[in-house]
Amino acid sequence: MAKVTFLPENRTVEFELDKLPYHDHGKPLSFLDIAMNFGIQLEHACGGNCACTTCHVVVKQGGECLSEMEDEEADKLDMAADLQLGSRLGCQAHFVRDGEVVIEIPSWSRNYVSEGGGSMNLGDAIPSANR
Ligand code: FES
Repeated sequence: MAKVTFLPENRTVEFELDKLPYHDHGKPLSFLDIAMNFGIQLEHACGGNCACTTCHVVVKQGGECLSEMEDEEADKLDMAADLQLGSRLGCQAHFVRDGEVVIEIPSWSRNYVSEGGGSMNLGDAIPSANR
């Protein structure tokens, strides 16, 4: 069984890794895929294609349950606003084994949503505008 807690909403979801339906966004079993399965808002301006940073999340606990970061993700993440230890792209970091993970959606991404940013495809304009 896998478990993810999304902060600051503090919403926890549980699922079996081999039973979660894939929603065509990001890697299967990624945080984006999980969020879409459970109706949780996680920005994904590029549709989960590792081409923006709006899905930025910070892993607070349980990183050992997740995929290793690939170069593509690391390169893109470098441009994220509010980069922290534990930062990952929500559409790329995916579960590889059962366990409990806690992630936080950084305030920049949350503000983007609350200010009506929606899911516009701003591509690379977002991170560079925030440097
Ligand atoms: S949704 Fe664009 S990089 Fe994850």
